[in-house]
Amino acid sequence: MTDRIPIPRHVAIIMDGNGRWATQLGRERYEGHIAGVESVRAAVKAAVRRGVEYLTLYAFSTENWGRPAEEVSAIMELFCRSVAGEVDDLRAQGVRVKVIGGRERFSQRVAEHLDAIESRTADCDKLTLVLAFDYSSRSEIAAAVRQIASRAAAREIAAETIDESTVSAHLYTASIPDPDMIIRTGGDHRLSNFLLWQASYAELYFPKVLWPDFREEQFDEALNEYARRERRFGLVTDKK
Ligand code: IPE
Ligand code: IPE
Ligand code: MG
Repeated sequence: MTDRIPIPRHVAIIMDGNGRWATQLGRERYEGHIAGVESVRAAVKAAVRRGVEYLTLYAFSTENWGRPAEEVSAIMELFCRSVAGEVDDLRAQGVRVKVIGGRERFSQRVAEHLDAIESRTADCDKLTLVLAFDYSSRSEIAAAVRQIASRAAAREIAAETIDESTVSAHLYTASIPDPDMIIRTGGDHRLSNFLLWQASYAELYFPKVLWPDFREEQFDEALNEYARRERRFGLVTDKK
């Protein structure tokens, strides 16, 4: 039965609630980030199992650089460790990793890990896992506008031909379809600078579960919720 329900082609997740999860247990915030890695594994596994083609995970926002230095370095360290530890498993599952966001602020070590996870999974084709790391949607849009403007100035494109597809083609997500569903765990109802352009017709879903408690069951619940939604894209349907 379950394989007959509509499956979103692209699911994007704002993985929120790590700090609260740790605080509730009387632990340090960074322990929540460590615990969240297991939830990433579960989400990837569930996405592969359900036939989702693209899974985007919001792992670190540009604004997150403003957190205390110890928390930022714990997240960077965890990222490097996870990349090194998970790459074989990701390859075995057919997961290709693509990282989106600014690349300028990372240490050389982190930058090398980013390059390594992309190149080592480049030939995988079952699921594309998009990691939004140092990502800000407004910066992404501003960078796209800069590129389009300079191409127009160089007469590579005619200003009057610039349309929605031109903008989409200059975003980090150029080759990726828009998300069908955006999930934000932790119960807050906001996008926090995530995929603002791409989210125009995404189904939004805000479960209360904190990210470290997210497992395959919660992914399946989200997909069941997706199947109940009626996507109209501004049109009318027969249903009353
Ligand atoms: C999300 O969890 C992970 C990152 C932003 C890196 P938080 O760290 O924001 O957790 P809460 O929202 O404070 O509970
Ligand atoms: C959004 O969560 C960013 C990530 C999950 C990576 P935040 O915790 O940073 O967002 P705000 O501060 O609650 O809006
Ligand atoms: Mg948060």
